[in-house]
Amino acid sequence: MNRIHLKTPLYTALQAYAEKQLVHFDVPGHKKRNCSWITEAFGDRVLALDANSTKELDMLSKPTGPIKEAEQLMALAYGSDQAFFLVNGSTSGVQYMIMAACRPNEKIIMPRNVHRSAINALILSGAVPVFIEPEIDLEFGISNGVSLKTVQQAVRENPDAKALFLMHPTYFGVVSDLKQIIEYAHDHDLVVVIDEAHGAHFPFHPDLPANAMSLNADMATVSIHKTAGSLTQSSVLLLNERKIKKHDVRTIVNLMQTSSASYLLMASLDLARRQLAINGLSDYQFILHQISKAKKALNQLPGIEVMDKAYARKTAAFDYDETKFVVKVNGLGLSGFEVYDILFNEYNIQVELAESYVILAIIGVGDDNQTIFKLVEALQDIAQRCYGQKKKYEVNLSRFFKIPMMELTPREAHYHKKLLCNIKDSVGKVSGESIMIYPPGIPLVMPGEIISAEIVSHYQFYRSQGCVMVNDQDNPGLIKVVDK
Ligand SMILES: Cc1ncc(COP(=O)(O)O)c(C=O)c1O
Repeated sequence: MNRIHLKTPLYTALQAYAEKQLVHFDVPGHKKRNCSWITEAFGDRVLALDANSTKELDMLSKPTGPIKEAEQLMALAYGSDQAFFLVNGSTSGVQYMIMAACRPNEKIIMPRNVHRSAINALILSGAVPVFIEPEIDLEFGISNGVSLKTVQQAVRENPDAKALFLMHPTYFGVVSDLKQIIEYAHDHDLVVVIDEAHGAHFPFHPDLPANAMSLNADMATVSIHKTAGSLTQSSVLLLNERKIKKHDVRTIVNLMQTSSASYLLMASLDLARRQLAINGLSDYQFILHQISKAKKALNQLPGIEVMDKAYARKTAAFDYDETKFVVKVNGLGLSGFEVYDILFNEYNIQVELAESYVILAIIGVGDDNQTIFKLVEALQDIAQRCYGQKKKYEVNLSRFFKIPMMELTPREAHYHKKLLCNIKDSVGKVSGESIMIYPPGIPLVMPGEIISAEIVSHYQFYRSQGCVMVNDQDNPGLIKVVDK
C-alpha cells in the first residue's frame, strides 16, 4: 500500500475552510446558514461543505493547490500522467476526449453501440464517425466488444482516421483485447480514447481486467461514481501524454465545464480514491469471492444463466468484469423487462437495466454479501415460481443489431432544417435526432442515419415493453427528421 494515498488534500482543505466559520459575502447564496429547507432535507454538513472556488480551495479550471494535489493522487491511483476532475459525469469526459482528439471532419473509428455522449461529441466536435460492428451475442441479446480484426479492417479502409474510440468494459462488462488493439492503433498513428465509465474499479484488484491507462490508452474517462463510491456525476478524465498534451485537454475542458464546480462532488472523488487505493484490494477480494459464489448459485437455477468469465471467453470476448450480473431470464418465459419490474415491485430490488432477455445488476464498493445474496434469493424465488409455467420468451433480435445507413454526419444532420414526423411514417427518412431507451442510452438511431423499418419496429417494441424512451420531443410518437 502506498501511504501517500492516505492523504485527502481536497477534502482536508474543504473541511479546514468550513471550520473557519467565515462570514460569507461570496456565492453560493445559502451562505452556509439559515437554509432549513436544505439542512432539514440533507443535514448540516452539506451546506458547510458546499463552497465556491477561493484562493484556499483552488479552482477547477486552473488547479494549483488542493485540487491539483488531489488530481495528482488520482492520476497515481490510475497510473496516468494526468487526471482532470469532472463534475458533469463521464458524459462530459467523453465529449472532451473526442473534442481533444479530433478536429471537424477528421475521422474517428468507434463501435456503433456507444453511449449517447459519444454521439453528442460527434455533433460538438464535427468529427466523422466510422462505425464498426461490435460482436453480437444473440443468446443474451446484447452487443459486446470489438475484435482486433474488426479494428484492423477499419484502419486499413480508413488510413486517414485520427482516433479510435472504444468502451472498456461495455455496459454489460465485456472486455476486448485492448492491449493488442491499442498497440495496433498506435502503430497506425491513431489516438486511442477509452470510455471507461463502467470500469472505475479495475486498477484495484488483479482479478479485474487491466485498466485502460495501464494498457497505454491516450485518454480514458472513468465514472468513479458508477462503481467506485464517489457522488453521482463525479468522474475523472485520465491522460497519458503522448500525442495529446495536457494543455490541449485543459483548453477543451475549460471551454465546456462550469465555473462553479461542486466541492461536494470533487471532495467525494478525493475520498473515493483514498478508499480504493488503501482498501480496494481487500474490499474487492471479498466482493469478488461473494460474486463467484452468487454466480455459481444462479447458474444452477432452471431457466436462468448469468454471464461470467468462462462464458464470455467462449464468445469472442477477451475478458470479463465479474462485478456485472448480466442475468438471462428468458428461459423462465419472462422478458428482462418483466423481471426488472418483478424485482422492483415484489422484492424491493432496483437493478440497473433490462433488455429483452436479460437484467443487468451492477455490484459496486457499497455492496456486501447481504445485498448480493438478496438478489440471488429473489431470483431463486422467481425461478421456482415461474420456470416451466410458460415457454421460453423469444423475439427475433438479429434484425435489431444491424448498423443503420448514414446519409449525413451527426453534425450535418443536427444543423440541417428539420421536420417533425410520426415515427411510424418515418421509414426511409434521415433522422434529425437520437432516440434510445435509457439506460443504456445507446441510440437506436442517431442524427444523419436513415430510419429503417427495423428501427421503427425496434422502437415500437421497446415502447410496448414500457421502457423509458428518450428523444427530444414531449410526444414519444414523433421524431425530428431532416427536411430534404
Ligand atoms: C458506456 C457509458 N459511457 C458514458 C456514460 C456517461 O456517464 P455519466 O453518467 O457518468 O455521465 C454512461 C452512462 O451510463 C455509459 O453507460
